[in-house]
Amino acid sequence: MKSAIVTGAGAGIGEAISKKLSENNYRVGMLDLNKDNVIEASKKIKNTTPLYADVTEEESVNEAFKEFGETPDLLVNNVGIVLFGPLEEHSVNDYSKSLNINLLGSFITSRILINDMIKRGSGSIINMSSVNGVNPGIGIGAYPASKAGVISMTQQMAIEWGKLGIRVNCISPGFIDAGMSKPIYEDKKVAALRGGAVPVGRLGEANDIANAVIFLDSENASYINGHNLVVDGGVISSVIAQLPRE
Ligand SMILES: NC(=O)c1ccc[n+]([C@@H]2O[C@H](COP(=O)([O-])OP(=O)(O)OC[C@H]3O[C@@H](n4cnc5c(N)ncnc54)[C@H](O)[C@@H]3O)[C@@H](O)[C@H]2O)c1
Repeated sequence: MKSAIVTGAGAGIGEAISKKLSENNYRVGMLDLNKDNVIEASKKIKNTTPLYADVTEEESVNEAFKEFGETPDLLVNNVGIVLFGPLEEHSVNDYSKSLNINLLGSFITSRILINDMIKRGSGSIINMSSVNGVNPGIGIGAYPASKAGVISMTQQMAIEWGKLGIRVNCISPGFIDAGMSKPIYEDKKVAALRGGAVPVGRLGEANDIANAVIFLDSENASYINGHNLVVDGGVISSVIAQLPRE
């Protein structure tokens, strides 16, 4: 049985990734800042352990990882937040909070585990970026910069750690009807408009992202390292095609 730790696992995409990993015979450590949520989520999924920590606090992450009891084969750095508002009204604190959680948090968790993975000579890390790490959006503060940073950090980890037996990749989800975006798509008109703009004709599901995690950690992906796997139904490739002609 392989093992994995998933961060931000108490809700949304992280919970779906944990479930899919469990179904694929992984033992899973589900880490989240929201203790009640992660305990409840873990109760519903077999072979999981709830872990409680803030990814920006190195000591508390260290303690939570110790509770898991082993260096996992796979680390999924899934935690992410988005703070809304026009950039000119964004406080410096909010900008730095997004960078700390979305980018630095994934470095902290990886830094804690990497030396044991290197000693073992195997492991894989999957970081969660976003289509906004490739193309920015309006009114989402530091989110695009933090997610672009995740793509760059992934590439650097991959070139430094690949020869030591550790593959590092990232996933950029598109319009996903889950987690932080779920409230947006509760408006059925918005859901239909957004889903209709996606070349495959629908919004994404948390499961689409969980499937990508399973693939990237599998033997079938053993030559994939430093890659940003965009899972968006083709939406960011269609930007120019969607511009008005007249
Ligand atoms: N939902 C989407 O449409 C979408 C699209 C693109 C990318 N993403 C990315 O996917 C990932 C998961 O998003 P989601 O939609 O499931 O979000 P979500 O808000 O439902 O879940 C995020 C989880 O992270 C936890 N968390 C937040 N800050 C934390 C911290 N400091 N330490 C530990 N845990 C913390 C929250 O408690 C929550 O359970 C994020 O990185 C997000 O940026 C989501």
